[in-house]
Amino acid sequence: ISLGGYYNWNQLLDFSVEELDKLIETANDIIENPEKYNQRCKGKKLATLFFEPSTRTRLSFEAAMYELGGNVIGFSEASGSSVSKGESVADTAKVISCYADIIAMRHPKEGAPLVAAQNASIPVINAGDGGHNHPTQTLADILTIYREKGRLDNLTIGLCGDLKYGRTVHSLIEAMSRRKNIKFVLISPDELRLPGYIKKDVMERNDMEFVETSSLEDSLSGLDILYMTRVQRERFDSAEEYERLKDSYILTPEKMKNAPCGMAILHPLPRVNEISVDVDDDPRACYFKQVKNGKFMRMALILKLLDEAKNVNGQNEILEEKLLTNEMKCQNPKCITSEERGLKHVFKPAGEGTYRCVYCEQKVGRG
Ligand code: CP
Repeated sequence: ISLGGYYNWNQLLDFSVEELDKLIETANDIIENPEKYNQRCKGKKLATLFFEPSTRTRLSFEAAMYELGGNVIGFSEASGSSVSKGESVADTAKVISCYADIIAMRHPKEGAPLVAAQNASIPVINAGDGGHNHPTQTLADILTIYREKGRLDNLTIGLCGDLKYGRTVHSLIEAMSRRKNIKFVLISPDELRLPGYIKKDVMERNDMEFVETSSLEDSLSGLDILYMTRVQRERFDSAEEYERLKDSYILTPEKMKNAPCGMAILHPLPRVNEISVDVDDDPRACYFKQVKNGKFMRMALILKLLDEAKNVNGQNEILEEKLLTNEMKCQNPKCITSEERGLKHVFKPAGEGTYRCVYCEQKVGRG
């Protein structure tokens, strides 16, 4: 089985720390010297395949490509594509490879961009797959942290809100797991706690310090970064449950009086109610700078992947014998394997006799 070429980009851990640092360096250079980059993608086309709504990610990818001198094609909802007639993700990726040089895909099913990467002959970027990952948002987050704090080590980061479904939170924890001396304060209602597999497989495995709490007020005074998140209505199975939890946290100027003067407030946006608009004028509010940083990091990412694609023929293979293929089924209804025709159920070993679906990363015991 192919897990996509290495010039595809599906999750944070596909890049080394050095590669991420290089992206930050390139993004900073783009900010300082935009004219150096404004023809770098002349003659190239980016296809934005968005099967789920987006303002920032889609438009920042498009702005990024235009600012690199390239062009953009694509669609912004599934109903605008032949997927609405039943076309598979695999076929869509093969078709778009005939028209474009690089793809950015957002899809509600977890693992869909990986399926696209397996079938496309051009680089594919995961622009968000269900509740699983949103790695390009994390690029925006880490550039913002770096520019605001001057470092990516020795930080105490509060993650507040929907830590269960918030894919940006999952990707940010992955990114920071490879930095030194990062402490997380996980602030959420009990119902929206961080999934156990991330605590065990990412945080505990990397000896990361973390505490869980439901109190935002009690947490603020010790934070370098406060990362607020929206409660993700679209991921809830029950509307009543969403209504009950949606306003669990609201950051106000009153609460900000207890926060350190150097603390940076981040939010991947869109915001609903969790940060009062009165906080926007606080110099610690960095979420609109974060939006801009996202565009610069996506420019750096497009440049890197197109550059690598020039030097690569074909796709990386993962050794078949390490994987289980069609010996069991992924039980996650949000996984792309529940929808895509002809897609094999493939699992990779996850230790202690367990396996993980390669698409959605849900863990299962064998048998
Ligand atoms: N942060 C983010 O992903 O926003 P959009 O859903 O608007 O792309």
